[in-house]
Amino acid sequence: MTADKHGFQLTQLTCEKLDRVKRDQRYKKLEDKDVAYFKSILPEKCVLERDAITNEQHTKYTCDWYNMFRANTSLILLPETTDQVSKILKYCNDECIAVVPQGGNTGASGGSIPVFDEIIVSTENMKTIRKFDELRGDLVCDAGCVLQDLDAFLGRAGFQIPLDLPARHACQIGGNISTNAGGIRQMRFGNLHGSVMGLEVVLPDGSIIDNLSTMRKDNTGYHLKNLFIGSEGTLGIVTGVSIATAQIREAVNVFIIALRSFEDVVKAYTLARRELPETISAFEVLDKSTVEVVKEKDFQVPKGSAFPISDEHPFFVVMETAGKDREIEDLRADRFLKNMLAQGVILEGAVARTPDEIESFWSWRSNTPRAIVQCGPSSIHFDISLEMPLLYDLVTATREWATKEGLIGTDIYAVYGYGHVGDGNMHLTIPALRDDEAVREKIDDFVYEWTSKHYGSCSAEHGMGLMKAPYLAFTKSENIINRMRDIKKLFDPNGIMNPYKVFPTKEQQAHGESIRRLAQPGC
Ligand code: FAD
Ligand code: LAC
Ligand code: ZN
Repeated sequence: MTADKHGFQLTQLTCEKLDRVKRDQRYKKLEDKDVAYFKSILPEKCVLERDAITNEQHTKYTCDWYNMFRANTSLILLPETTDQVSKILKYCNDECIAVVPQGGNTGASGGSIPVFDEIIVSTENMKTIRKFDELRGDLVCDAGCVLQDLDAFLGRAGFQIPLDLPARHACQIGGNISTNAGGIRQMRFGNLHGSVMGLEVVLPDGSIIDNLSTMRKDNTGYHLKNLFIGSEGTLGIVTGVSIATAQIREAVNVFIIALRSFEDVVKAYTLARRELPETISAFEVLDKSTVEVVKEKDFQVPKGSAFPISDEHPFFVVMETAGKDREIEDLRADRFLKNMLAQGVILEGAVARTPDEIESFWSWRSNTPRAIVQCGPSSIHFDISLEMPLLYDLVTATREWATKEGLIGTDIYAVYGYGHVGDGNMHLTIPALRDDEAVREKIDDFVYEWTSKHYGSCSAEHGMGLMKAPYLAFTKSENIINRMRDIKKLFDPNGIMNPYKVFPTKEQQAHGESIRRLAQPGC
């Protein structure tokens, strides 16, 4: 039996468990002659047919990291060049074959997994660094470069990618751009719309938008690259990326601090922004239960090591500052900690400075998703944006509601709350004890309605994918969604790119709109 990435039984096929999605009969069912065409334009090793690969190989591309979505895809293409991507898309467009673009398949909303018989086009063979300007740090590379590999390459010249996330070892820069990934240092680097200077994108008709400019300022008309950032493979395939990288700041301090309430977390954030304005680069929150689960599953580094301070407090913050001068940064860090303790904002704190200590402190945060998903065969998860003071209210409200509904211990293991609070983004991860679509829907309805009522966003960083498509109208207005549909039609008139993703059905949109209007009168 093939297991998922965490050793659990593979989830049921999406097409069997999601009866809300119906196959669009416009899409052609793959024929031998189609496969023959792909074999004629790609090297043999770049065409993976279901029957010719092992279950493990197939699962790598067809099941998501959270074990919530799975497909029985019969064909996976691994092109090596932009020209090959262009030929693939042109053929699919002409023949009306539906396509799912895929990067590292670490996506957290089911966007990278087909629903029915869509083919997968993966960028994993596109890994060339095309150009690097060592003076300015401008990088032009293929979309399939893995984030961690890019960082290792840039590090040798004193630069780093302006993005970091716990899936760094597997996710690809093209996937990061297509999801507009956020991650743990967005506070410092800003989002990708700022650092990405240009993109090369293959459109469904096979034409190539070649805009790999390295100009930091270019106001010649509409900024097309911004449309593709976060478009989740629904408009075209990103094949090349031009990005302004960041200078490494060697003098890093990583704090772990303990707080008595979420109100104090917000206070600590405000003070940290005020006292360390140029150097604060991350402000991540873990609640007590989250630290406990990392310890219980032994995912901290080194294994078996103790939490650096007492783990008996309700909240913890992993905070990072990075500057150029070690002496100055250490002095500032020590003063900050002392002041916060003296003012009673924090209860305890410790600072890491050596690479080993830093890795160890960060592991409590970076490995939280891995530890949590060990608690159940599949995990329901959220990436919600809200005004900062409200972020933890959502976790509390969800726990109270789930307890009242009798879900905890029967349908779900627990509700974990952690995340990028410095960016106004909280993750709730809820390991399910069984693979039950009705339970997931019930929890989704509660969380997204609460979010709508508090003027938040259903997705801070993971995108809508398949998972959140029904909820788009909970936090986006009808007019905006309809303009988005127009854009989709313009780029992809045959709708071959990543179907069933991002957009709700008309009925779901009308339902979401009624929820939003009720929750947000006047908007
Ligand atoms: P995939 O999963 O392969 O694809 C994601 C989406 O992008 C799909 O819709 C796919 O169709 C589309 N796509 C992929 N490549 C292309 C392309 N070249 N052209 C067009 N469309 C494409 N996300 C965050 O934002 N912040 C985090 O902190 C974070 N932490 C994570 C931690 C863990 C442990 C895991 C498993 C995931 C985490 N994620 C996080 C989610 C995920 O890593 C990001 O969304 C990432 O950007 C996805 O990249 P990928 O290459 O794996 O893309
Ligand atoms: C993280 C993922 C889940 O922040 O987005 O760990
Ligand atoms: Zn995240």
